[in-house]
Amino acid sequence: MKKDVLAVADLSHDEITRVLSRAAELKSGRTSSSARPLSGRSVGLLFEKPSTRTRVSFEVGAFQLGAQPVCLSISDLQLGRGETVSDTARTLSRYLDAIVIRTSAHERLEVFAEAASIPVVNGLSDRHHPCQALADILTMQEKKGRLKGLRVAFIGDGNNVCNSLIEAASRMEFNLTVACPEGFEPDAGTLSAAQAGASAEIVVLRDPREAAGMADVVYTDVWVSMGQELEAEEKRKKFRDYQINSRLLSCAKNDVTVLHCLPAHRGEEITDEVIDGAHSAVFDQAENRLHVQKALMELILP
Ligand code: CP
Ligand code: NVA
Repeated sequence: MKKDVLAVADLSHDEITRVLSRAAELKSGRTSSSARPLSGRSVGLLFEKPSTRTRVSFEVGAFQLGAQPVCLSISDLQLGRGETVSDTARTLSRYLDAIVIRTSAHERLEVFAEAASIPVVNGLSDRHHPCQALADILTMQEKKGRLKGLRVAFIGDGNNVCNSLIEAASRMEFNLTVACPEGFEPDAGTLSAAQAGASAEIVVLRDPREAAGMADVVYTDVWVSMGQELEAEEKRKKFRDYQINSRLLSCAKNDVTVLHCLPAHRGEEITDEVIDGAHSAVFDQAENRLHVQKALMELILP
């Protein structure tokens, strides 16, 4: 059966552990760089929204594994002229071995995956960003030496990145506190499913200082996600107290690691001082997108 990865919850604890361990192996260079395990395969990259990290790391990763990346933009496809998502999925399945899709509505991804006979990977939707969460947890594991029992604070919008982190916390048993303004909570269904199956503590509260208290990792993302530009001014006002700055960081552990999925809106959700400071691991986190996605492609294309 094909293996879709539309959310972190599509991966078991064992599958995530395999991805992390293979990603670490690939990163270390312990495997021969001439090994081309995906030689002869083709991976589609369909992006309906801008991307720097996801598209480039998948394209380079596929190339490094010997696969042919095929970059597709909606304006070049008949999809942009009204061909249905299902017909596009059925057609592309005849050419490609897997496809990564970045789109707005998560449901569009589900429709594509349902019609496709090849594995579909979510490269970001309005609800989930699973590839990001895999890189996040690899970075935490590298910096802290473990995942189980860590205290992680996500401070900001309960968005796609936050939802995927919640599912990762549930699967990998780290404690996660989300601090967000009222009305910007993570997806209720994702949260309750993650809490139900979790041995770790996953809580949502209002006070960013309480969330940051004694945290091993402090994480944030933009307040205004792609497609939310019309709400930007309103959101900026509501999130004013949720900025990751030195004062907020002083509530966390002395050796706290700071994460941000990037792109950052410097001076909004995070200050220059923090993102460029000694605790920041944001560029290691960005690099880790490449390693985890290579491991993920190997997993879904055995
Ligand atoms: N973090 C992330 O997904 O970045 P891009 O939007 O640049 O792909
Ligand atoms: N929450 C952000 C993440 C960007 C990688 C967005 O959806 O725009």
